[in-house]
Amino acid sequence: MTRLLPVLLLSMAACDPGPTWHGDVAPIVNENCVGCHQADQIGPFPLETYEQAVPWGPAMAIETQARTMPPWGADNSGECGEWRDARWLSDEEIQTISDWVAADMPEGRAPKEPLEIAPAETLPEPDVTVDFGFDYTPLASAEHADDDYRCFLLDPELDTDQFITQFEVEPGDPEMVHHVILWSLEDENAQTQAEDLAGAAGSYTCFGASGVNNSNPLATWAPGSGVVSYPEGTGVKIDANRKLIMQVHYHLLPEESRSDRTKVHLKLEEDVDQEAIVWLLADGRLSVPAGQQEAEFSFQFRLSDLNVPFDVDLWGVLPHMHQRGTSIRMTRTPAGGTQECLVDVPVWDFEWQQQYFYEEPIEIGNDDLMQVTCTFDTLDDTAPVSWGDGTEDEMCLVGVFVTL
Ligand code: HEC
Repeated sequence: MTRLLPVLLLSMAACDPGPTWHGDVAPIVNENCVGCHQADQIGPFPLETYEQAVPWGPAMAIETQARTMPPWGADNSGECGEWRDARWLSDEEIQTISDWVAADMPEGRAPKEPLEIAPAETLPEPDVTVDFGFDYTPLASAEHADDDYRCFLLDPELDTDQFITQFEVEPGDPEMVHHVILWSLEDENAQTQAEDLAGAAGSYTCFGASGVNNSNPLATWAPGSGVVSYPEGTGVKIDANRKLIMQVHYHLLPEESRSDRTKVHLKLEEDVDQEAIVWLLADGRLSVPAGQQEAEFSFQFRLSDLNVPFDVDLWGVLPHMHQRGTSIRMTRTPAGGTQECLVDVPVWDFEWQQQYFYEEPIEIGNDDLMQVTCTFDTLDDTAPVSWGDGTEDEMCLVGVFVTL
C-alpha cells in the first residue's frame, strides 16, 4: 500500500495532461476565431490547424486575455447589457488557451472526425444592391497618409418607402475596406447638401460622420460583421426617391494603388411591425483639455428634454468616438431608481466599431436620466479638443436603435 500510492498519483497525473489542441483549444478557436482567421477572410493568418496555430499561441493567449480578440468592444460579462450574437469568450475559455500555451502547446490526439468549419453566412437574394457606380482608387491626403475616409452618393432607386431589415456589405477589396456606414438623407435639404458635396465626381472626403446635417446611420458594418439582421419585426426606413450616402474608411496599402467598388446588399420590406429609428445622442459642447491620458467628458439628458413625450424601446446601441477615444459608457437612472449600465466599451478601438443589439429591448422612460461618459487620450495635443467631423476633432456619441 505504502509503495503503491506514489505510483497511483503519478499515473493520475499522466491521465490529465492539461489542455491539448485537439481536446480543448481547437473547438474554441474553430467556433470563435476561424470565421475570420482562414484563407480569403479578414484575419491576417489562418488558425485552422495545429501547425498554423502554434506560432501564434503566445499571441493568442495575450489577445484573448486582453479581450482584443475576438473583436467585440462591449462588455458582455453580465455587468452591462446582455448582447445578441456576442463574440465573447468565457473566462474559462480564455484560461484554457493560456494554460495550453503555458504547457507548451501539446497537440493531443486528433479526433476521428475533423472539426467542420462553419461556412460563411451570406444574405439570401438581396432585394436591392447599391454601390457607387464606379471603381474608386483611394488616395492619401495631407491629413491622412494611410487612410482615405470617403463618402459616396448612391441612388437605391426606390419609388416607394421601404424598410431595411437585413444587410450585408461586400467589400470590393477586403484588405482596404475597414468600415462602411450607410447614411440616410432625411429631407430634401440634406439631399441637396450631399449632392453639392459630392459634385460631379460623386464622392467627397468625410470623417467620423456623413458631413450632412440631417442624416442618420441606417446600416453600420465592420469586417467580421457578416450578415446584419435587425431585431425581428423592426426595420429602418428609406424614403422613396431619396439617395443615400455610403461612407467607406479605406486603409491604404503601402506602395500599392488598387481600386475598390464596395457593395451593400439590402433586404427590404414594404412594411414592418415597428419602424425603428436611429437617434444620435451627443452634446456638441464637447471639449476636453490637451495633455491628459484620460480626459473625461460626459453629458446627461432626458428624452423629455429632447421633446420625446413618451417611453421608447431601446434595441441596440452604436457607441462612437474618433481616434483619441479610450472608453465610452452609457447609463440610465429612472426617477427614484438606481443607475443601470446600458453599454460599456472599456477599451475603445476605432478600427472595430459596430452596432450592438440587446437580447431583449429595454424600455427607457422619457424621464429617465441618461448619461454618456467618454474618455480621450489627449497627450499628443497642444490645444483643447472639441466636437467636429474632422480627424483633428472628436466625438462622444451613442447612436440608439429605438422603436416608439
Ligand atoms: C471578426 C473577425 C475576427 C475574429 C472573430 C477573430 N479575429 Fe483575430 N484578427 C482579426 C484581424 C482583422 C486581425 C488583424 C488586425 C487587428 O489586430 O485588429 C486579427 C489579429 C489577430 C492576432 C494578431 C494580433 C497582433 O497583431 O499581434 C491574433 C493573435 C488573433 N487575431 C487571434 C485571434 C483569436 C485567438 C481569435 C478567437 C478567439 C480571433 N483572433 C478572432 C480578425 C478576427
